[in-house]
Amino acid sequence: VRLRAKSGLLIGKKVVITAGGTREALDPVRYLTNRSSGKMGYALARAAAENGAEVVLITTTARENIFGVEQVFVSSTQEMLVAVTHAFSDADIFISAAAVSDFKPAEFATHKIKKQTDSGLTLNLVQNPDILQTIGQSKKTNQIVVGFAAETQEILAHGKEKLIKKQADMIIANDVSKSDTGFSSDDNAVTILIPDHLPETLSKTSKIEIARAIMARIITLK
Ligand code: CTP
Ligand code: CA
Repeated sequence: VRLRAKSGLLIGKKVVITAGGTREALDPVRYLTNRSSGKMGYALARAAAENGAEVVLITTTARENIFGVEQVFVSSTQEMLVAVTHAFSDADIFISAAAVSDFKPAEFATHKIKKQTDSGLTLNLVQNPDILQTIGQSKKTNQIVVGFAAETQEILAHGKEKLIKKQADMIIANDVSKSDTGFSSDDNAVTILIPDHLPETLSKTSKIEIARAIMARIITLK
């Protein structure tokens, strides 16, 4: 028997992490979503648990069970926001690794949308709440808020804008234009942005190693 999490720099700390792509229902049988696999969020949950934290993983995808990690399953952005707000009220760290849908259908059709002869369908979308920004703007002094920035161009500039706009303590900027990193890949390569610090690049490695490096950096933030 291996004893785990008996030591670690996050003992006594509660860490809330989101994972996966949110799903926005269109009608009873259809939804809009994205290509997120949830792997990065699960890797972060594992890295936090390895450091002895109490971890709440709010996720849209059911991947593996992790010792010391409580999983809360949600579907839509609105459900994720409610779950995060509740879990974060007495937490120390929030990491927003979910690929949150920016838009949702303006209306939910209570019955399955039927085809009309010879015509297509135009969807009306409205903006979803921004979970990271909501949490960043309302965090208490000792709470740490960390987000990601999925970019295909001007990664550092856009990442820095998100750091400020969302009042985050750290943004992990991610180039999602490359197919061997990001989204469903097992590997990732990121740049860590912290206010008043030079960017730090973590070159391509497994998501668990990236997660461990991110967690080590978060621990130094306080
Ligand atoms: N995020 C969130 N709620 C949203 C959209 C994004 O919490 N409605 C979080 C993501 O989990 C991520 C960070 O905000 O940690 C940045 O997400 P990203 O999609 O890169 O940025 P957006 O602010 O949505 O801007 P855009 O997609 O237009 O670049
Ligand atoms: Ca977005």
